[in-house]
Amino acid sequence: MKLFIDTANVEEIRKAHDLGVIAGVTTNPSLIAKEGRDFFATVKEIVSIVGNMPISAEVISLQADEMVEQGRKLADLGEGIVVKVPMTEEGLKATKRFTELGIKTNVTLIFSSPQALLAARAGATYVSPFVGRLDDINQVGMNLIKEISQIFKVHNITSEIITASVRTTTHVIDAALLGADIATVPYKVIQQMTKHPLTDAGIQRFLADWEGANQSVF
Ligand code: E4P
Repeated sequence: MKLFIDTANVEEIRKAHDLGVIAGVTTNPSLIAKEGRDFFATVKEIVSIVGNMPISAEVISLQADEMVEQGRKLADLGEGIVVKVPMTEEGLKATKRFTELGIKTNVTLIFSSPQALLAARAGATYVSPFVGRLDDINQVGMNLIKEISQIFKVHNITSEIITASVRTTTHVIDAALLGADIATVPYKVIQQMTKHPLTDAGIQRFLADWEGANQSVF
């Protein structure tokens, strides 16, 4: 399973990219608003950091023709741009059109398997089921990843599953075990994934033993 970073914060993207662990970036209007910067300038800067990796940038219109217009402008910003489209009838129409234009899409705000199947059939490059927001309403978000993974596998559907709305390292590992292609994770979760108390304790022990070993320094 690949990891994308879910943020519009360019410093976080730079740090995650420097770690060599991310294969793409996802943003959404809320994440863009949080940074308080120009949308297009932000996306251009993300392109300058990650190059041709997939970068999801979302359209704002709810009407297919306008979505296509907005998406084409976004797609011009870089080869890796993936137009993020909401899971609605208009979104599906736009997804079909983007597919015909050779523009990659990420159908977002998916909360059920029927939605994922429709998005895939409209030609979505990626589908984004939101696990954390399902957990928030007392449903088991990971059940959705399990169902979509099975359906896509049985029917040889090539749309990639991005596990989205990831809140914990457990979400990441469950998504990997269930066969998701990608998990898009906040920088904070990447940091949490690096940590284990026994790693910290092990480093302390090695350094303490080294101190007592009277070795010359490097
Ligand atoms: C991903 O594409 C979404 O933008 C994101 O994961 C949503 O996460 P949230 O539910 O934490 O806002």
